[in-house]
Amino acid sequence: MDRQELILGQVLSFHGDPITEGVAAARIERQGSVLISGGRIIGHGPAAALRAAHPDARLTDMSGHLISAGFVDAHAHMPQTAIIASWGKRLIDWLNDYTFPEEMRFGDRAYAEEIANRYLDLLLAHGTTSVASFCTTHPASVEALFAAAEARGMRVAGGKTCMDRNAPEGLIDTAQRAHEESAALIARWHKRGRAIYAITPRFAPTSTPEQLEALGALWAAHPDCLMQTHLCEQLEELDWVRALYPQARDYLDVYERAGLTGPGALFGHAIHLTGRERQHLRESGSSLIHCPTSNTFIGSGLFDMAGLAADGQRIGLATDTGGGSSFSMLRTMAAAYEIAQLRGAALHPAELWWLATAGSARALGLGDRIGNIAPGMEADLVAIDLASTPAIAQRSARANELWEAIFPTIMMGDDRAIAAVWVDGHRRQIPPKGNETVSG
Ligand code: GUN
Ligand code: ZN
Repeated sequence: MDRQELILGQVLSFHGDPITEGVAAARIERQGSVLISGGRIIGHGPAAALRAAHPDARLTDMSGHLISAGFVDAHAHMPQTAIIASWGKRLIDWLNDYTFPEEMRFGDRAYAEEIANRYLDLLLAHGTTSVASFCTTHPASVEALFAAAEARGMRVAGGKTCMDRNAPEGLIDTAQRAHEESAALIARWHKRGRAIYAITPRFAPTSTPEQLEALGALWAAHPDCLMQTHLCEQLEELDWVRALYPQARDYLDVYERAGLTGPGALFGHAIHLTGRERQHLRESGSSLIHCPTSNTFIGSGLFDMAGLAADGQRIGLATDTGGGSSFSMLRTMAAAYEIAQLRGAALHPAELWWLATAGSARALGLGDRIGNIAPGMEADLVAIDLASTPAIAQRSARANELWEAIFPTIMMGDDRAIAAVWVDGHRRQIPPKGNETVSG
């Protein structure tokens, strides 16, 4: 058994979903502490009481910092790390001009490993301890992601992106190859350590109905895998789906017919939905993943957080890098706030933080393991500096209550706010801020 570690700080935990149950479902213990050992959270509570009860525990004093579960990014593209912030395109041109040429490079195993390692280091530097990521069509890209995650002890979901049409030759597989290669990766990686396999058809336009059916059959054979794809992101894409699938009642129906909806299905974007789609998403127990920086960056539209939450949908939050313009879940919360404002609703900081942690974990079916501070949960934690820049510090110093002190970090914070990260109970060295150089 590892020696126990007692982390002192302002401890944020959730006792319910603040979006549906009210913000009192989020609690902050000001003079709090979290006791961890053997990769698990043993308990949390007042610092004085836990210090007295566990005098032999190693003390890590983060007093004044916010101690939270590590961020959970529910939809991202590791292979797009190096093309984040590419200028001037909407979805389909952005895919053809920037994304597919970059994804072609992942046939080279060494390049895949370099980017997978760089990507996970960037995530940890931003306080993100878990991600559900797309890879490329190449199985080597999945190997690279899971190996990099295993080396860091991270709970990561990922999968081979399947495409058998409407993409360059070098990225195309077939229905059969998608099934076989995904099945082999499931056998090798699913539930190995903390790894979770996500069956990954990219989106309806790049798969034939046969490929989607093959992946539906694969998911039926491995129902504890996740299934991740894109849904109703941009209006031009909806027109394309209608032309490619004239029999389908709507976009979601393309996936529904192939057996690709239900608990564990993660639908990125979900902006332009019909009433029927909303009903089936909710009734099937599928998850909707809100990608706000991507939706403004690529010009996709405004996710209906208030309406979808009122429906009772399961909603996660995600960067969608590199369509999304930031690796930071703080910046992503800020963008979610701004999009909700444009739709006339203000998301409370407790609601935003829940989406970035426990909400995303629940969307991934991992709400009992990650995304919250509670006894028995896995010890993936972050310590957040609530005064990480002069601009943030001067505003939070004015705050009358704690959420008001946290909100400037949500709106203006970045990796400089991440003071410490624990993964699987181990403190991880996070790279120095700002001035490192990387090649490539
Ligand atoms: N739709 C299909 N592929 C992608 C992708 O890589 N990024 C985004 N944002 N949307 C997609
Ligand atoms: Zn995406």
